[in-house]
Amino acid sequence: MTRRKEVPTFFGEVQLKGERVNVVVENNTNPVLFYRHENGQLWQGDSIEWLKSLPAESVDMIFADPPYNIKKANWDTFESQEEYIKFSMLWIEQAARVLKPVGTLFVCGFSEILADIKHPASRFFKSCRWIVWHYKNKANLGLDWGRSHESILHFRKSKKFTFNIDNIRIPYNEHTLKYPSHPQAETSQYSNGKNGNHVWEPHPNGAKPKDVLEIPQDLVEIPTTCNGMHEKTPHPTQKPEELLRKLILASSNVGDTVLDPFCGSGTTPVCAEQLRRKWIACDLSPEYLDWAADRINRVEEWSIEKWMQYDTENIKRRNSIR
Ligand SMILES: C[S@@+](CC[C@H](N)C(=O)[O-])C[C@H]1O[C@@H](n2cnc3c(N)ncnc32)[C@H](O)[C@@H]1O
Repeated sequence: MTRRKEVPTFFGEVQLKGERVNVVVENNTNPVLFYRHENGQLWQGDSIEWLKSLPAESVDMIFADPPYNIKKANWDTFESQEEYIKFSMLWIEQAARVLKPVGTLFVCGFSEILADIKHPASRFFKSCRWIVWHYKNKANLGLDWGRSHESILHFRKSKKFTFNIDNIRIPYNEHTLKYPSHPQAETSQYSNGKNGNHVWEPHPNGAKPKDVLEIPQDLVEIPTTCNGMHEKTPHPTQKPEELLRKLILASSNVGDTVLDPFCGSGTTPVCAEQLRRKWIACDLSPEYLDWAADRINRVEEWSIEKWMQYDTENIKRRNSIR
């Protein structure tokens, strides 16, 4: 499946669904609308101020890939870890306020950073699960443990949160496929306590998703045969679309609103647009937002099933070259 690299045209005329609204001054922190589209908006400015301006209980899912306080850029530098935790609590409290009761907040980070955030942030939510994003393709040059994972906190606003498990099932392992349907022993945890006649059948969409997600970290290393380069921008910490598609499919429905307070190069709004969700996002940098708007303009009009098939094919291709 070939991805679109140019903005769409019709008889030579560029066809854009969205428009840039304001020319923004660098270092502006007061939120201003930057880009408007029939399915969403990009805002430029400080995300805490921006979140405060939004109505309570108005969005279904939030994906946040905030600064990590590891000095990757000016925006990633805080005076101390205490200052960083204070900043985190300010935006997380606002994120919890704007989430609907069925809503989810995902927060990315290195595990040792999220360990400082999870407990104080938990007071705004009903429950939390810890997801590991495992990647094998990161160069590790230092003399320390080679990093091969990041974490994602999955905060849920209430007990009845949206979770579409069937949209994100994963392939069964070979053993399961060899014996696809068989009676369970009475003692098996899957027998339902019946006298051994409960027959387990594999689910047509695959096995239950695990809390360890196996997705490559470095976009450049996705094999070029699947046109992996199309999504890469110069953003220093861009997340892969495949990761976002999985989380959006899991925790929102068609027509729901997905919010990203630190959208950078726009991975979240791009994937929300692909999967027929509404989106709203913010970043401090007008340059990053320009890249985001370009990516949104290039989103292919594929069905949701085609996006899911696209990811499945990429997983199979990666497995075949391991
Ligand atoms: C880790 S990056 C997000 C990258 C993004 N997930 C992507 O795929 O491109 C964090 C982003 O937060 C933005 N940022 C940092 N502090 C901010 C603030 N107070 N308000 C809004 N954006 C901020 C930075 O400009 C940066 O783009």
